[in-house]
Amino acid sequence: MARPAALHTPDRTGGWSQLEDTESPDGRVRSPWAHETATILRHARGGPDWYTLTLSAGALATAALPGQFVQVDVRGDGAVARTADPLLRRPLSLCTIDAAGGRISLIYRVVGRGTALLARARPGDRLSLLGPLGRSFPEPSRRPDQPLLLVGGGLGIPPLAGAAAWARRAGRQPVALLGARRAADLAGVTEVRAAGGAVVTATEDGSAGRRGLVTDILSARLSADMEVWACGPNPMLAAVADLCRRAGAECWLCVERPMACGFGVCIGCAISRAAGDGYLKACVDGPVFAAAEVNVLA
Ligand code: FES
Repeated sequence: MARPAALHTPDRTGGWSQLEDTESPDGRVRSPWAHETATILRHARGGPDWYTLTLSAGALATAALPGQFVQVDVRGDGAVARTADPLLRRPLSLCTIDAAGGRISLIYRVVGRGTALLARARPGDRLSLLGPLGRSFPEPSRRPDQPLLLVGGGLGIPPLAGAAAWARRAGRQPVALLGARRAADLAGVTEVRAAGGAVVTATEDGSAGRRGLVTDILSARLSADMEVWACGPNPMLAAVADLCRRAGAECWLCVERPMACGFGVCIGCAISRAAGDGYLKACVDGPVFAAAEVNVLA
């Protein structure tokens, strides 16, 4: 994907932004990020406790890559919010990224007061966003002939919609293995299917797709020539990493961590290095890591 040389204009940054645009040797990109006031185009309940937000956010849609995230001011109409409560933004992974249409979508679960507030926002409302934040999945065109498996669990499925579309634009034919506890928790599957490519679903209770864990399906398909991009709960990521290590397959994990700031200041998102001492920051060193880099359970 062609990258803009610079994203910043005085009317977009709102006064503070990070100008750095870095690309790791492995092709993960950390973009310049900034403030953008997005307009809600659609806000739909997708399941018992999760919602899909479609936003008009032109600069973000142009700059963002799959695996990156945004920090959302859940107070709604963020540009004119009259209260500082709740103070902290909520980190949400990018689901679909439509650069040509200037749109992004986000899928979130209502888990507390902040996301309950967000669920009250309506089409036409404005939301203050910071982003795109963090490092993306690796550039897919660097391995044009390598089979690519996308493995998602629960709320880890939505980021794989953008990932599938990105991989297909790079000429790859990803296969998505998507799992959840039950059919109602398969958030983002529609968006992954819309990106094209094969999709296999699994639920623990058998209410959709195959009965069992998505890692069972991965285990049956995995071989050393494959590349795996995974996103989901930490135990699932640890199992995916272990399967890939045993098979000799390349593996990238998009991790979930508490994120107060999202840009490297608060240290709230620390994740243990797999080897040696110390920690990495999921918000700026990740959230996409090579599986061998981190211990997702520590
Ligand atoms: Fe603050 Fe990562 S979220 S340092």
